[in-house]
Amino acid sequence: MFKERSKEEFKPAVNWNDIRDQFTELFWNQNIRQFWIDTEIPLTEDKNTWKTLSADEQDVYKKVTGGLTLLDTEQASLGMPEIALKVDDLRAKAILNFMGMMEHMHAKSYSSIFSTLCSTTEIDEIFAWLHTQPQLQKKIKVISAYYTSIKDNESLYMAMSASVFLESFLFYSGFFYPLYLAGQGKLVSSGEIINLIIRDESIHGVYTGILAQEIFKSFNDSTKKKLTKQVNDLLVELYEIEIEYTTEIYTKIGLVGEVLKFIQYNADKALMNLGHDPHFNIKETDVNAVVIRGLDTKTKNHDFFSTKGNGYIKTTNVVETTDDDFDF
Ligand code: FE2
Ligand code: FE2
Repeated sequence: MFKERSKEEFKPAVNWNDIRDQFTELFWNQNIRQFWIDTEIPLTEDKNTWKTLSADEQDVYKKVTGGLTLLDTEQASLGMPEIALKVDDLRAKAILNFMGMMEHMHAKSYSSIFSTLCSTTEIDEIFAWLHTQPQLQKKIKVISAYYTSIKDNESLYMAMSASVFLESFLFYSGFFYPLYLAGQGKLVSSGEIINLIIRDESIHGVYTGILAQEIFKSFNDSTKKKLTKQVNDLLVELYEIEIEYTTEIYTKIGLVGEVLKFIQYNADKALMNLGHDPHFNIKETDVNAVVIRGLDTKTKNHDFFSTKGNGYIKTTNVVETTDDDFDF
């Protein structure tokens, strides 16, 4: 729920022993368990397959990862902090801030991929391109307008809906190509990073979706109807930008239709995270099989309460050994 900080009677402290719901602690623990660091994924082997890609394929890869960097930067710097600031549950703030920190990790991890595969001049060119790319900039403007206008429960609900759209829907035009290559055994180390990011975005979309649904429950029927329409209108507005963006990027490698189907599939998932009916009704079997192979969804995307299936598991519960441990 929305909270105006200046109207508080006293400064509260977070009490994790005050169990108000079943899901908050579950999501905190799962977020912590999924923690990972970009620099711990070795990427050098990808240099070999990078050389085998055509100039067009390399160009698409650089552009989509550049676009993903921009979306993660916005989510890290504006989306998560604004939403965290405006919710009232202090434990939800902690989770949202942790998720925001992982957005910084995601944004940074693309730079690790760039520094492995590209020259400094190429990296500069990617950033110059994305700073002026019209559809990318338009996406960011549409989403960030919701983040910067939170003033009550309705606007907080819409900001959370925009956030779920960014994380569960807009990222996927970018994720498509690294998954498509990883599904063919190409750039698999970078693909592992993409999979770790997707695992995070999956839990982020579900958690923010639950928070949004909690607020939605508090509205009367006419407000629910109005907001459902606003959410669906936003989806259509964003999808139209995605069509333009996808056509711009993917036409030269002939993948526009496949990417759009993948976007539609994930747009439906975003709507379902918010508790709304799907718009496109795309089944997993309609999505490109190579991309599904790159995703390995059963263990990495859908089943986010398990860490099975990923090559990377971060140790988070380290107990230092002492001399006594060796006294048998
Ligand atoms: Fe992210
Ligand atoms: Fe996220």
